[in-house]
Amino acid sequence: MKQVTGKNKTVFVCGSCGFESLKWYGKCPGCNEWNTMEEQLAPAGGTAVAPKAVKRASAREASADPVSIRDLTEAVELRCSSGLSELDRVLGGGMVKGSVILYGGEPGIGKSTMMLQVCEELGRSMRILYISGEESLSQIKLRARRLGVNSDNLYLLAETEIDHITEVIEKQQPGLVIIDSVQTLYSRAISSIPGSISQIKECTLRLVDLAKAHNISMFLVGHINKEGAIAGPKVLEHMVDAVVYFEGDKNLSFRIIRSSKNRYGSTNEIGVFEMGDKGLIEVQNPSKMLLSGRPLDVPGTCPVCVMEGTRAILAEVQALVSQTSFGNPRRTSNGIDYNRFCMLLAVLEKRAGLSLATCDAYINVIGGLKLDEPSSDLAVVLACASAFKERSVEENLIAFGEVGLVGEVRSVRNVEQRILESRRLGFDKFVIPYHNKPEKPIEGVEVYPVRSISEAIAVALK
Ligand code: TYD
Ligand code: MG
Repeated sequence: MKQVTGKNKTVFVCGSCGFESLKWYGKCPGCNEWNTMEEQLAPAGGTAVAPKAVKRASAREASADPVSIRDLTEAVELRCSSGLSELDRVLGGGMVKGSVILYGGEPGIGKSTMMLQVCEELGRSMRILYISGEESLSQIKLRARRLGVNSDNLYLLAETEIDHITEVIEKQQPGLVIIDSVQTLYSRAISSIPGSISQIKECTLRLVDLAKAHNISMFLVGHINKEGAIAGPKVLEHMVDAVVYFEGDKNLSFRIIRSSKNRYGSTNEIGVFEMGDKGLIEVQNPSKMLLSGRPLDVPGTCPVCVMEGTRAILAEVQALVSQTSFGNPRRTSNGIDYNRFCMLLAVLEKRAGLSLATCDAYINVIGGLKLDEPSSDLAVVLACASAFKERSVEENLIAFGEVGLVGEVRSVRNVEQRILESRRLGFDKFVIPYHNKPEKPIEGVEVYPVRSISEAIAVALK
């Protein structure tokens, strides 16, 4: 463990709850999480414990006495479009005035690009203050020119010190503030370095209070840590109204935005973008893009149709199964929950008689999409069975259904919508759960209702 040496000493801070200590712990005494303590520098004379919060102008202080719900007047939920309909969809139909949105993603994924792009449309109706702690003003200007953003209402500020930032916001009274990023902010009241848990927490708290007191909308851009969560204490997510993540493979142009929390809408919707040379372009028909280049007539691939919020989206699941050359077979999954994948392999082994116990198995969802809906189970099962038996899945066939532990295929929702969306993209054979059998035939499609995975394999493989 690190010792206190000379002027600079180090402290250990929990990435989950912000607990600080001079000693390292495997298990944080504050929140009992494992492996969350990180070493940080505390400058000479600094405090090792969390500092007292600076006095804030809190909007919450105003209502000290309880009020009857009948006497309250509803605040009107004013929404404005960001100009990107895919982002509006994820936010629940546009940005709510006065809401604070935490916006996370890996470096280089396109967060700053999207923030600048929304300025063009939102700048028509409100004054915007874009505060950057990462890029210089001339760099932002250069990017804005490339993206065609030239709003009269867009003001830029390169600053990271929170007192100055709050002063400017109070003076300018913008309708929207964009902070890029919260990890670069610091408060003089706290001795730890910018990006440390206590700095992030304190600066965000002050911004959120300011937003609520003056009814200012805010986008707080945040970096994510290696586990994929926004770097900083978990309490950040409680303080804001919505948390959205921008994901995707940096090497591919395909990007997905999804929300993990939204006080003003559902968290099921996703938005799809493509990064081009003029910034992010919305993808209105993601299925077509996800299926482009799909190999036909080869074993180990099966298209799938999942519901992402109100939309049916088609994607491709690929599997590779080969004899293992080691004692323990290797299993790798990408885009499907690992434990779910292992469970489906076990069901295939036990209920469909495929001897997979001695095989390495890999599964991948094309395009960086993550499938967390159980309706994708059947496609995973068919892709694995197809790879194992070296027989390809019938062309133009889509399968969906949840698979249970006894090998049964269970019903899913929105069957008709899935079939119609898939038909639009040229699919005409459907393997669906028996209980979802349509009451009347659907024009132009053949439907095969199945009760078990064995039936599904018999129908689907060539
Ligand atoms: P950026 O918005 O800076 O990412 P973040 O703020 O999330 O770190 O995006 C950077 C990447 O996007 C960069 O690698 C280049 C690429 N890019 C384009 O491909 N086209 C463009 O028009 C722009 C502005 C960026
Ligand atoms: Mg950036």
